[in-house]
Amino acid sequence: MQLKKDYKIVVTSGPTREFIDPIRYISNPSTGKMGYYIAKAAVNSGFPVTYIAGPVDSEFAKVDEATNISVLSTQDMLDAVLKSITNNCVLIMAAAPADYRPAKRYEVKMKKTDSPDIHLVPNPDILQTVNLYRDAKGIRNLHLIGFAAETHDTDKYALEKLQKKNLDMIFLNDLTRKDSGFGVNTNQLTVFYRNGKKEVWPPMAKEKLGYQIIREIEQWLPSL
Ligand code: CTP
Repeated sequence: MQLKKDYKIVVTSGPTREFIDPIRYISNPSTGKMGYYIAKAAVNSGFPVTYIAGPVDSEFAKVDEATNISVLSTQDMLDAVLKSITNNCVLIMAAAPADYRPAKRYEVKMKKTDSPDIHLVPNPDILQTVNLYRDAKGIRNLHLIGFAAETHDTDKYALEKLQKKNLDMIFLNDLTRKDSGFGVNTNQLTVFYRNGKKEVWPPMAKEKLGYQIIREIEQWLPSL
């Protein structure tokens, strides 16, 4: 029997950017810290890791001994994810991809007006696209892990995402807590599993949490 360490781990992290014109974009305050520490913990735990990061500070852009891919937009992140996933693989979507992009990207800088004409269109959902791709390509033993960052009705939305995105596990981040969320060094996570189990974890430093998340996933993974 092969070891669980033969699973490939693909981690996404950070925000994505959707440009309106050459100097303006839509994004969010994700720093990539949580994804970076998950990928680092996975490398240090002996897994082969691909780390796909949106535009983040240089300290969180690359993980030593991982295959590193830098992306800008949600479509770029989706393309990188589809190229990276394999049989016997875990995809951990810690990134905060922008959900919308401008329908038109202006080639030159838009001049200031009182009511700019910026029409938004939805971006693809990466996890939902991966589900379709896995079925179409017959990819075997690919496990999907998501994050939910919520401000209200937190459990309800996390559970909805678990089902809708067909996840094995989802980590809920309550953005109203001072010790959790974007740019903070700690996180308090609640984990929901596909089988209905729920675990509330104490707040802890994101670096330590990276190891806790990898340990949890490793324990739960079926042996190869
Ligand atoms: N996600 C994704 N593709 C997107 C947006 C999000 O795969 N275009 C992933 C995130 O990486 C995360 C999970 O889906 O693992 C939940 O992301 P979240 O932003 O909380 O949920 P959304 O589906 O975007 O829903 P909403 O913004 O309405 O809460």
